[in-house]
Amino acid sequence: MQTPAAPEIHPDNAIVWHDDRLFLLDQRNLPGETRFVACGSAAETARAITDMVVRGAPAIGITAAYGVVLAARERFTADPSGWREAVGADIELLAASRPTAVNLFWALERMRRLMETLDAAAPEPALLAEAQRIHREDIAANRAMGDFGAELIQGPTDVITHCNAGALATGGYGTALGVVRSAHAAGKVRMVYADETRPWLQGSRLTAWELAQAGIPVTVQSDNVAASMMARGEIGWVIVGSDRIAANGDVCNKIGTYALAVLARHHGVGFMVAAPTSTIDMSVAGGADIPIEERDPNEVLACGGKRIGPDGVAAHNPVFDVTPAALVDCIVTERGVVRQPDADKIRALMAGA
Ligand code: MRU
Repeated sequence: MQTPAAPEIHPDNAIVWHDDRLFLLDQRNLPGETRFVACGSAAETARAITDMVVRGAPAIGITAAYGVVLAARERFTADPSGWREAVGADIELLAASRPTAVNLFWALERMRRLMETLDAAAPEPALLAEAQRIHREDIAANRAMGDFGAELIQGPTDVITHCNAGALATGGYGTALGVVRSAHAAGKVRMVYADETRPWLQGSRLTAWELAQAGIPVTVQSDNVAASMMARGEIGWVIVGSDRIAANGDVCNKIGTYALAVLARHHGVGFMVAAPTSTIDMSVAGGADIPIEERDPNEVLACGGKRIGPDGVAAHNPVFDVTPAALVDCIVTERGVVRQPDADKIRALMAGA
């Protein structure tokens, strides 16, 4: 039999179910190295999430959903009567892969609920269909957010984005970068200033790569430049994604987002968050209750893989922060836009399913 061709390398193709396996575009060395990592089990999938082969809130949720498919196949083959319990343990393993992005737990819960309804037949086809539905719904949500967000922009203007909230971080198209893509297509975005996003460099590596591929003008800047850019009066919007939004509208996103929101308010620049409703966690009252992931301090003490800090010096590496709802001008979701978010408006949005 011929080996099926490997998936095409493209930012919109970062998570691919192919040849009965999960292929993840390895984001650790992009754009210098373009390759896929194949996952054949839940354990391999969980490891890929922890190690940031795949990252970005919606993307890790979709990936984990496919991880449950791999788990069900393996466990059902090994034990057609006791597979559910073993898959339950695999779901726990996937849930422990990263703590902050709620899309991970949301997707796993959807898969677990479906699994409980399945009868004695092989579970893989139904679970695969659900994972693919989660994947498709995410792309559709991003396109809807693109339209809603683009409508808010009076262009042409320059925007700042932070981290990578693009196709690579989602099922495709992107959240914040989806808004940028739609707004650029409508002639409303002149230039995207991409914060480099220390220490992992999601901005200078991933956002810059994605936007360049899409033919959208992008300029990389160090994380310290935003204030002076805003002071020059050329920035119309800061547009970012989110890993978890609390019930009161507080927004958790990549470390440094809070500083941008403070700067935006000071300079009268709009602050837009684009995130699907799967990122909203109604079980968390406010941002202070969102668990913030701490990663290896060596990520901070090195740059581009080269050690830069002296030996014996401590570093801390919280990789997310919380922007209070009061600093957010609008949250763009697939269901519509919440302006000046607060608990009542978020409750109304979520009730209108
Ligand atoms: O640590 P990462 O790269 O997973 O962090 C990603 C972000 O903070 C993104 O801004 C967020 O997940 C939104 S992605 C659409």
